[in-house]
Amino acid sequence: MKTESFRMWEKESPLGQGVASYLSAMADRIRTRFLVIGSGVAGLHTAWRASEHGDVFVLTKRSLFDSATAYAQGGIAAALGAGDSAELHRLDTLAAGAALCDAAAVEVLVAEGPQRVRELASLGAKFDLDNAGRLSLGKEAAHSRKRIVHANGDQTGAEVARTLIDRVRNSPNITVLERARALDLIIVNGRCAGVKASVSGRAVEIIADATVLAAGGCGQLYRYTTNPEVATGDGYAIAHRAGARLADMEFVQFHPTALDTPENPLQLISEAVRGEGAILVNDRGQRFMTRRHRLAELAPRDIVAREIFREQQGGSGVYLDARKIARTFARRFPGIFAICRARDIDPRKDRIPVTPAAHYMMGGVMTDLAGRSSIERLYACGEVSCTGVHGANRLASNSLLEGLVFAERVARDIVASPRLARAPRVEPWTVPPLRDRGAAQVAVDSIRQLMWDDAGIDRNSKGLRHCIERLEDIASRLPPGATEEQNMVDTAQLIAEAALMRKESRGGHFRRDFPREKRKWRGKHIEW
Ligand code: SIN
Repeated sequence: MKTESFRMWEKESPLGQGVASYLSAMADRIRTRFLVIGSGVAGLHTAWRASEHGDVFVLTKRSLFDSATAYAQGGIAAALGAGDSAELHRLDTLAAGAALCDAAAVEVLVAEGPQRVRELASLGAKFDLDNAGRLSLGKEAAHSRKRIVHANGDQTGAEVARTLIDRVRNSPNITVLERARALDLIIVNGRCAGVKASVSGRAVEIIADATVLAAGGCGQLYRYTTNPEVATGDGYAIAHRAGARLADMEFVQFHPTALDTPENPLQLISEAVRGEGAILVNDRGQRFMTRRHRLAELAPRDIVAREIFREQQGGSGVYLDARKIARTFARRFPGIFAICRARDIDPRKDRIPVTPAAHYMMGGVMTDLAGRSSIERLYACGEVSCTGVHGANRLASNSLLEGLVFAERVARDIVASPRLARAPRVEPWTVPPLRDRGAAQVAVDSIRQLMWDDAGIDRNSKGLRHCIERLEDIASRLPPGATEEQNMVDTAQLIAEAALMRKESRGGHFRRDFPREKRKWRGKHIEW
């Protein structure tokens, strides 16, 4: 921990600055202008841009590279190609969102997206180019035009992360605290004044004029997920505890094709592999998607995920057969090729075992177009936010884009945050040590299996009620100090309760007992 860069608020300590006995009994205190919680694309971009106007602290649970961004194989969708337009991108985004998108937010996304992509390129991001030196644009499911910007084939997220981390590391105004977990927001007179955090197990209060929640998603609530281990839903839980408004928590996107191994997280096998011609087959070698949807393997993500899940429920394994594209596979998908080869699978000769997996949360902390939450001085951007651009289902490759576009808007808005007039009083607190690691792990495993079985791809009233009851039981048995596990329970409850309330199927939310969209739910959000 870089203690030398801490700005102590001297007047807070009755004993004066640097009195060790006082500090060990109380939380350390940092004073900064801007605080960013999370280090994915949204957090990094906000930190970099805000740092042009004042000090920024960035909290990251592990290291700067541990985020869903760094894993993203898909690209960034932006209307940059000939024959494409923001209007076409807008229409595709709205269609995917199943009548639940916020029209104004979508307009912002598609209008400002191209500028953010050009900016990243000018910062040094090496996007794939065609022979004429123009951006080489790919096409993904439900996009009407080629508009996906990629880097190194299937490693766009890593390139975006590298570019922004470089900016952050080179900014003298940014201090990064690794192994730093936000525990709870500090709310004074209804305004956010910062966060209580555990930094390498030590209690630290970070007081900020503006706090930005960019804490990522919650895929780790599910037994199978493509999200990194840090994605345990902390942002949703701490915002909810603080009284911020959240919405659309029933809308979890399941990706159809993660590599089916005993690992956590699972490795993604990008939709683009199916886009290039790979097909899905079951144990008997039957291509089942042609019988289930006219677009076969390129049907909307939720439909493909559900059909694979049904094959699995019927006792069959499911495989991606990419042998038809054997010649180009390694060149087009170098990252996926390496992932498979490291597990003794040769996609040129072998079928790739796949399973659906929790991939993305469409709901989250509600924001306006400047990323402001319902709590003054608290902002949200990236996956933890609900800007309204995704509605009930996110269009492929719109998430890195959303992170960039709304982080920029947040950074522009927080600059105008007035300075806190005086140090807020915070009751003394400590980081409770985790007493029983074994019991906490049992709770985590139970939550993940329960959510997969009862609040996953195929939901119904009985399962959701069972899920909610069991979550209460799990919460009551959590050992002292299980703060991350408590966040998992809290976020899981929001998902299960919203899923029980929405008695229809729409986008990523499917109810076997209400398998159709219902007119009366059209445009309606479940808010917390
Ligand atoms: C993929 O490449 O299949 C994932 C892209 C995304 O989730 O946007």
